[in-house]
Amino acid sequence: MTSAVQTFPRQGDVAWQQNLFACPSCKRSLVRGGAEQTEFSCDAGHSFPIVRGIPRFVGSDLYVDSFSFEWNTHNTTQLDSHTGGDSSEEMFRIKTGLTPEQVKGKLVLDAGVGAGRFSDVLARWGAKVVGVDLSYAVEASYQNFKDLDNVVIAQGDIGRLPFAEETFDFIVSIGVLHHTPNTKEYFQKLVPLLKRGGSIAIWVYPNEGDYNTRTQWIPYTYKIPDKMFYEWCRWFVPLANKYRTSNIVQWLSKVFPFSYQGLGVENDILDTFDGYSPRYHGIHSPDEVMGWFRESGLINVHEPGNWTTSVRGDKAV
Ligand SMILES: C[S@@+](CC[C@H](N)C(=O)[O-])C[C@H]1O[C@@H](n2cnc3c(N)ncnc32)[C@H](O)[C@@H]1O
Repeated sequence: MTSAVQTFPRQGDVAWQQNLFACPSCKRSLVRGGAEQTEFSCDAGHSFPIVRGIPRFVGSDLYVDSFSFEWNTHNTTQLDSHTGGDSSEEMFRIKTGLTPEQVKGKLVLDAGVGAGRFSDVLARWGAKVVGVDLSYAVEASYQNFKDLDNVVIAQGDIGRLPFAEETFDFIVSIGVLHHTPNTKEYFQKLVPLLKRGGSIAIWVYPNEGDYNTRTQWIPYTYKIPDKMFYEWCRWFVPLANKYRTSNIVQWLSKVFPFSYQGLGVENDILDTFDGYSPRYHGIHSPDEVMGWFRESGLINVHEPGNWTTSVRGDKAV
């Protein structure tokens, strides 16, 4: 392990990062200080350490330990910059409708960054990206972006984020909010952080097909120790995919859906583990999600692509 505490940002003092954070407790500005510039603190005396280069606004990973395991095990599996493919970029375009021209030079929050597959796309498109995650996935995403001066990674809770109101030009949260204790309430925590004229795009699980089936399993599977369930996925997924045309595996895939996404076996193992291990697994209808946007006063509410429950809306100027 590297030294316990390092300064932030590691790559030098980058102007846009200087006044980024506000105290999650009292919303006063946070200033970097401490003996070796290794914490953020506000006038009210609240302080937050910077550990291994990452500002920490939570003391632990609370209910997302499966993601701490998942993203440190598969730290680059889904990153286009690592695989040389474009599946994350394609998915990002479909789920958000955003383009490189729209985000270039803009401040974008990736709420629930994971290992950073979508921050990777945004960084390449020239955005100033702030990736936040409650889990120790931040160790992986920090390593993935530590040499870029347009990405900042922090550990924090969407329920209590360290930013002032109207900070971001864009907010994206893809595949995240259904893993919180209350999908709608956590969505509502993001909206105030959006600037006037800004745009927010989310994707949450739809209440259909495999998502419904997995909802029945989650109360049992989330309790299995992560390592044990993961080892089982490593054994089961390649075998099931090998014999996927057989009658028994066809039947099994309806009772216990597993991944076969055509992006390689590592991706399928990761995705199957991801489908059954989280503590929370909310499922929602497109109308329900669009309703949250409208209730929050957002305008131009629409589904940017043909992906169910991907919704985007703007904050009026
Ligand atoms: C399925 S992963 C998706 C990660 C990334 N958006 C992607 O698509 O690769 C969900 C992520 O949401 C994070 N998460 C869940 N609840 C959160 C919360 N309250 N605050 C911040 N992150 C949270 C988890 O730790 C996990 O990394």
